[in-house]
Amino acid sequence: MSNKFYITTPIYYVNAKPHIGHAYTTVAADVLTRAAKIQGKETFLLTGTDEHGMKIQKEAEKAGKEPQIFADEISEEFKSLWEKLGIQYDKFIRTTDESHKKAVGKVLQTLFDKGAIYKGEYEGLYCTGCEQFLNESDLVDGVCPDHDAIPEKMKEESYLLKMTEIQEKLIQKIESNKLEITPEKYKNEILSFLKNQELRDISISRKNVSWGVQLPFDESHTAYVWVDAFLNYLTGIGWNGDEKNIPENWPVDVQLIGKDILRVHGTIWPAILIHLGIDLPKKIFVHGHILSGGKKMSKTLGNVISIEEMLEKFGKDATRYLLLSAGTFGDDVDVTMERMIEKYNADLANGLGNLVSRVIKLSSQFPFGIKEAAMHPEFMKILDSVNLDQALEYIREKIINDDNKYIEENKPWELIKSNKEKFEEVMTKLLLDLNIIVAHIEPFMPETSEKIKKALEEKKTDILFQRIK
Ligand code: MSP
Repeated sequence: MSNKFYITTPIYYVNAKPHIGHAYTTVAADVLTRAAKIQGKETFLLTGTDEHGMKIQKEAEKAGKEPQIFADEISEEFKSLWEKLGIQYDKFIRTTDESHKKAVGKVLQTLFDKGAIYKGEYEGLYCTGCEQFLNESDLVDGVCPDHDAIPEKMKEESYLLKMTEIQEKLIQKIESNKLEITPEKYKNEILSFLKNQELRDISISRKNVSWGVQLPFDESHTAYVWVDAFLNYLTGIGWNGDEKNIPENWPVDVQLIGKDILRVHGTIWPAILIHLGIDLPKKIFVHGHILSGGKKMSKTLGNVISIEEMLEKFGKDATRYLLLSAGTFGDDVDVTMERMIEKYNADLANGLGNLVSRVIKLSSQFPFGIKEAAMHPEFMKILDSVNLDQALEYIREKIINDDNKYIEENKPWELIKSNKEKFEEVMTKLLLDLNIIVAHIEPFMPETSEKIKKALEEKKTDILFQRIK
């Protein structure tokens, strides 16, 4: 079994500042990476920004800035948020990096030379928000449901990528889990899309978008932003575009994506790889969206939950915890500030924080502190299947809540006076459990894990999580 663990997040558009949805995916990727590292794997976490295309060109124009300057500024905001959230990425790729652009040009040339790309005309309904042509059946009352916008009718000269000849192969790869798409409902969703219609060849260039990578064989076109973007998953680990010379870290082990970008990841992305003769990703894990008060977050509704505000209120580790425990990873999850405060107080201030402070206080006379503890196999299995919320539930229910109950039942503060032997038994269990907690929360809350370790060593602790009113 290979000892490597290569994981990617989507690369984020730089049309606007990072938000809670971006943070959700990236924190999840960081947790999985840290967990894999603890298990002795050689990990590589790739994230970055997607900077070309119509959407960014338009936003830069609106802001009265050169697209590159505009992209530079917002890309920095992503980096700075990842720093605040404790994301340990190995590479932050930008699609405006020279090396990336060069590789994209090379790939397009190869596809053209192979006959996988040909010149034609494309007609369709384009949604700039999605940066995608949509089918009539994707629209709700004539409007793109993800962006509440009427797509633009477009008809233009374009280069097209052949899809029909790879359709069967793609279905077979997904069905056989050679390309595993999970959770199951998303695998079924993409399979039913692939099986129910003949795939149209895909437009992979734009004549009226100047902000992009020029096609080497026709400089009046730029590469379609999604083609440019997908290649980051390879250029981010050092690929130069030569399909005979693929980096060792390939194929990628896990690609995390939101459900809105499943279709492109299940069609265009593998199609490019199949045409190039490159192995497909091993697993694509699809998560749901974060909703606020049951609705999509929007400025007009005024229900946007700011990630910056969360960080200010709860701090780094608690923000990570609250994001990932908000609901089933894979389904849509609904958050409100009130519920997060409640959860913070219940799980972290009263639950974990209280447990640590009680045990540490009682441990001052006790011989041992730090002990080696490993993650429970059941917990590791949950993590391997990317059920991050369940992993947190495991820690909360099976360790923290149990221990708090155990303390209530055994009242060690009384035992210390009345029954030394029983006191030692109770404390041994509790101190061992704190060590177990340290091991289990480390990928999720690395700073808290360190603080508990230190408390065990020094037999004293500050309050880990202040209650919030
Ligand atoms: N640039 C493309 C991805 C290219 S990857 C080769 C893109 N960018 S995005 O910034 O619009 O979205 C990036 C990710 O954020 C997607 O996975 C999307 O699902 C996720 N989210 C955007 N809003 C979200 C929520 N409200 N909740 C959870 N994730 C959400 O698409």
